[in-house]
Amino acid sequence: MSSISYVNGRYVPHRDASVHIEDRGFQFADAVYEVIAVQHGRLVDGDGHFDRLDRSLGELSIPEPMSRAALKLVIRELLRQNRITFGALYIQVSRGQAPRDFSFPQNVQPTLVMTTKRLKPFDFERTAQGVSVITIQDIRWKRCDIKTVSLLAGAMGKTEAMSKGAFEAWQVDADGNVTEGTSSNAWIVTKAGELVTRHTDSAILGGITRQTVLQLAAKDGLNYVERPFSVAEAKAATEAFTTSTTAFIRPVVKIDEQSVGEGKPGPFVLKLLKLYGQHIENHK
Ligand code: PDD
Repeated sequence: MSSISYVNGRYVPHRDASVHIEDRGFQFADAVYEVIAVQHGRLVDGDGHFDRLDRSLGELSIPEPMSRAALKLVIRELLRQNRITFGALYIQVSRGQAPRDFSFPQNVQPTLVMTTKRLKPFDFERTAQGVSVITIQDIRWKRCDIKTVSLLAGAMGKTEAMSKGAFEAWQVDADGNVTEGTSSNAWIVTKAGELVTRHTDSAILGGITRQTVLQLAAKDGLNYVERPFSVAEAKAATEAFTTSTTAFIRPVVKIDEQSVGEGKPGPFVLKLLKLYGQHIENHK
């Protein structure tokens, strides 16, 4: 993390940044978050992320810690203080600090924490490198549409993926369908040339990158459908890829050690990646 963090109204050195042990984020994972990419000093799809943050807060009846306009000013100042031109911004909002009790406390000031991270600029060649994924059982709760900090299942899954040399783990529901990655959305291209990603409901997080990719596909006249797809269908697909704020669009060339299509990034994903690169450049 970069050297200055924002905690409840103050810009503080990262090493001194802390919240109370009775913060409900710590005690109950009673908190939501957002991760927003920064490219050329600007937030990528900022409004989409702010809308999702509002939705997550609303679903849990956590009051907004400040207005969107104020939040944007604080973010601009934090990026300036940390000199972030390319990187990521993390926003965490918990219900706040209160004596431990399961039920939601009333009249509590939410905790707002923001941190930044410097990352390399978006680079087509680097992002276009294929990665592998494993499949794991989806053991998460039934409100995955809320972006909460309750990330233990995802952390376990990602750790398993890393231990097997894979980039990501695709989670699979009781019907054998892929829900999403531990921190990304999952996509395939079928032999019929159809772009498929799971529809949004409470089983997955509605990714902002996912939304942008759908818009870019529509604009370019690419054929897509939002529906469940099985592991078997994914393994028989001609292409596969994942999308997320920090990984952008990553071609998936292997699923559980089995090559997808020709085992290298295909035309569909490379086209979308090119469009995504233009999307970033257009928002400079
Ligand atoms: N993760 N699904 C899950 C479970 C996620 O955690 C994420 C994002 C996504 C993709 O959403 P988006 O395109 O809005 O980033 C899908 C972020 C990057 C993270 O936790 O670091």
